[in-house]
Amino acid sequence: MNILITGGAGYIGSHVTKQLLETSQHNITILDNLSTGSAKTLDTLREIRDFKFLQMDLNEFDTVCEVLKENHIDTIIHFAASIVVSESVENPLKYYMNNTVNTTNLIRCAVANDVKRFIFSSTAAVYGEPANLHETGIDEDYETSPINPYGMSKLMSERIIQDTALAHKDFKYVIFRYFNVAGTSHDLTIGECHDPETHLIPLVAKTALGKRDKIMIFGDDYKTIDGTNIRDYVHVLDLADAHIQAISYLENNRSDIFNCGYGRGFSVRDVVETMKQVTSTEFQVEIAPRRDGDPAILISDNRKIKSKMNWTPKYEDLALICESAYAWESRV
Ligand SMILES: NC(=O)c1ccc[n+]([C@@H]2O[C@H](COP(=O)([O-])OP(=O)(O)OC[C@H]3O[C@@H](n4cnc5c(N)ncnc54)[C@H](O)[C@@H]3O)[C@@H](O)[C@H]2O)c1
Repeated sequence: MNILITGGAGYIGSHVTKQLLETSQHNITILDNLSTGSAKTLDTLREIRDFKFLQMDLNEFDTVCEVLKENHIDTIIHFAASIVVSESVENPLKYYMNNTVNTTNLIRCAVANDVKRFIFSSTAAVYGEPANLHETGIDEDYETSPINPYGMSKLMSERIIQDTALAHKDFKYVIFRYFNVAGTSHDLTIGECHDPETHLIPLVAKTALGKRDKIMIFGDDYKTIDGTNIRDYVHVLDLADAHIQAISYLENNRSDIFNCGYGRGFSVRDVVETMKQVTSTEFQVEIAPRRDGDPAILISDNRKIKSKMNWTPKYEDLALICESAYAWESRV
């Protein structure tokens, strides 16, 4: 198989690439503009086995089509995107251009070049602020109602993928709605290096290491057991496994949308306390006002991915995820 991975130099894309390089013989081409991805990560991946790297931007519409043609691409795994929610509120056009317009062009090129398999990174942000407290988890049929341009840019891309598949019967897709992704590869050779970092677990790990003065908790007056937000944290290695499964799933000519989370929520305080425990450190925690658009509880119902894709998570353990993130932060 000839697989194009967009955003393969980024956090999640590099973990999926690593797994593919280690466990398959597929020809891999990575397309990345290195806007947030890392050249060092690519060097590390190249030690596993060789792959093609094209440093280019998805907005080079015609060149993207040529890349698919020249490399006889048959499967695309599309991670490349802008991902910072607050930035999407300040600069929505950046998100609609990079996430929606560039995805639309990539699909256009895929159809024009007979690429039949498309795996897309979507997000739980498409669910917006669920009206009720969903402690048991939101399934894929739950109403989508994004409350920021980031979530909307992804939901629009989902729709474009689905409509394309309706019109082109051979075009099959898997859309993953990731919940909160964290952790790193066991050998600590690659990891999460967002700048600025906006995700809770790496931020708490940095605080435990003294790289930050304190951790802020935005709101402790939510209607949750300890007043702080509850999220579903999924280990990046389990998420990578889901992508490997998705390739087989698509080989059987099926298309679908899957939540990817553990179906279990932890509060911000749970994360802070777990990090303190696993690292035997104490650090300052400060309560700040709620942020706009933070739902109280966001937990996946993951029955569909488990039953239809045989996804069997192996690292469903908050302490392990915190240890993993801390170990990575200790190295960089
Ligand atoms: N990290 C999470 O918790 C999370 C949660 C839900 C969904 N997602 C989705 O997963 C995907 C990957 O996220 P990530 O955390 O690895 O982000 P990341 O920023 O680490 O990786 C994105 C990669 O895409 C590249 N890129 C961005 N725009 C590009 C363009 N126009 N042309 C070429 N390359 C481009 C960047 O250089 C980077 O290597 C994104 O689509 C994101 O929306 C992530």
